[in-house]
Amino acid sequence: MPKHNSPIRKAVFPVAGLGTRFLPATKAMPKEMLTVVDRPVIQHVVDEAREAGIEHFIFVTGRNKGVIEDHFDSQYELERTLADRGKHRELEMITRDLPGPGQTSFTRQQAPLGLGHAVWCARDLVGDEPFALLLPDMLHHAETPCLAEMMKAYGEKGGNVVSVSPVPSDQTHLYGIVGVEQPKAKVSAISKMVEKPPRGTAPSNLHITGRYILQPEIFEILANQESGSGGEIQLTDAMLTLMHDKKQPFHSVRFDGHIYDCGSKIGFLMANVVYALARDDLGPSFHSELKKLF
Ligand code: G1P
Repeated sequence: MPKHNSPIRKAVFPVAGLGTRFLPATKAMPKEMLTVVDRPVIQHVVDEAREAGIEHFIFVTGRNKGVIEDHFDSQYELERTLADRGKHRELEMITRDLPGPGQTSFTRQQAPLGLGHAVWCARDLVGDEPFALLLPDMLHHAETPCLAEMMKAYGEKGGNVVSVSPVPSDQTHLYGIVGVEQPKAKVSAISKMVEKPPRGTAPSNLHITGRYILQPEIFEILANQESGSGGEIQLTDAMLTLMHDKKQPFHSVRFDGHIYDCGSKIGFLMANVVYALARDDLGPSFHSELKKLF
């Protein structure tokens, strides 16, 4: 069997979700554009992908998400004005992290049929090569970015790689859960996968955190995937078929940093606090302001 270890050049970002949990903020603005300190959530996740060596960024968008496309484009008038006014720091800030010409692609998921369906919408843009998938709501905060650690494991193991971390056992029904062969190891072969197992039935407390490296054969499976948990086309169900029926290896990489679910209000607020405290320019003064509150 081939080792399935071609380089990972492309990353997919499913950004079609409605963001109902953040209304009214998300009435006219995509939830991915909410800012954590001074960068949109989606920018933090694209940064993580770039730091892991990704060269092409594929966004699966939906209605009212056009501003995400604009965010990753150059803004000629603004750049010109900043340059004329000598605002070089600000100019550098908006140009430094821009993907280069031809490094972004956008497609649409017309109906909210589930994560598996969103990923399938990217099939032609990904083509016949393995790819990374990053769920933008989940900010992974760590010294070594999560996807970079997964790339390392992929370099050794090939196949498919999924980031996992433990959750309290009363929360396993909220996530995709995996069973692994070596629960204590940083990298382990995966033996089981289930999307949102009913309470009391989870094979472990290791949840899928929202970072994946997948082989392109996932698309053929997704093309015929029936709806699963919550009536949606689930990626986890397709991964299970890829593992069992197509005999492809799956490994977990335990993420040891902190995850902030920016789709939830508490997660989003905590991300702002933690990311601000970690900044050299803001951290010390923010810390002393926060202390005055308690
Ligand atoms: C999705 C995945 C799930 C994963 C989760 C991480 O679920 O289907 O396996 O654990 O993201 O956030 P969702 O949050 O879209 O319900």
